[in-house]
Amino acid sequence: MAVEVLTTADGRAKTALGRAHAARWFAAREAGQPLPIGQATPPLRPARPDRPALLAPKDVPRRRPGTREGRIALLHAVAHIELNAVDLHWDIIARFADRPMPLGFYDDWVKAADEEARHFNLICDCLEAMGSHYGALPAHAGMWRAAEDTAGDLLARLAVVPMVLEARGLDVTPGMIEVFRKHGETRALAALEVIYAEEVAHVAYGSKWFNWLCGRDGTDPKEVFHALVRRHFHGSLKPPFNEEKRADAGLPPDFYWPLAEATD
Ligand SMILES: [Fe+2]
Ligand SMILES: [Fe+2]
Repeated sequence: MAVEVLTTADGRAKTALGRAHAARWFAAREAGQPLPIGQATPPLRPARPDRPALLAPKDVPRRRPGTREGRIALLHAVAHIELNAVDLHWDIIARFADRPMPLGFYDDWVKAADEEARHFNLICDCLEAMGSHYGALPAHAGMWRAAEDTAGDLLARLAVVPMVLEARGLDVTPGMIEVFRKHGETRALAALEVIYAEEVAHVAYGSKWFNWLCGRDGTDPKEVFHALVRRHFHGSLKPPFNEEKRADAGLPPDFYWPLAEATD
């Protein structure tokens, strides 16, 4: 099921399939007959639509959020992040299925993937209501790099994707919410508030399973986290941090502050 989602290119089709698979997973769980985990080989890179064109981050034009075009560009970037997030969550399910994990691990990532699909659809609805659509603008090419860099190591994947990248989302989303509030764009405002509320849990799933694995191995989670982020994440963590939401998500300051000055 995860590989089916990963190999579907169109965004709306990918999210519809993912949502149907998530519903099937949870229906089976509630019936007390969980679906077997199975084994699969996910593609190194997920299928993607022909548009948006993917550019190096430095080549993606910057637009000011004070303009309507700028706000469309901002939402377009969010849609791109959400579509990547759909694939990232299905990828962690398929890629590491050979490691024995409790069923709750799969519950968490199926739920997160389902929520990312809703986020993508909500933002696409906003773009369409503003006369644009996902694919109308270029997007960042580098977004799958973290997945490729951590394809061989579940702990590294948890450290870099939910605990660094999705935690970064908690830092920057309040500023984005303010932009849309200021300009009275209520539809986008509502969508971003849903995203902001639900992303805390995705970071929390990351720290929960990261700590669980370290506990099983008898290692110090903070030290393992620092070593893995330094090895697999390119660049330093950028303050200001959303300390409160990070705490809600089980990320203590001594995990991320020591990495704030790290360089490649
Ligand atoms: Fe999301
Ligand atoms: Fe997320």
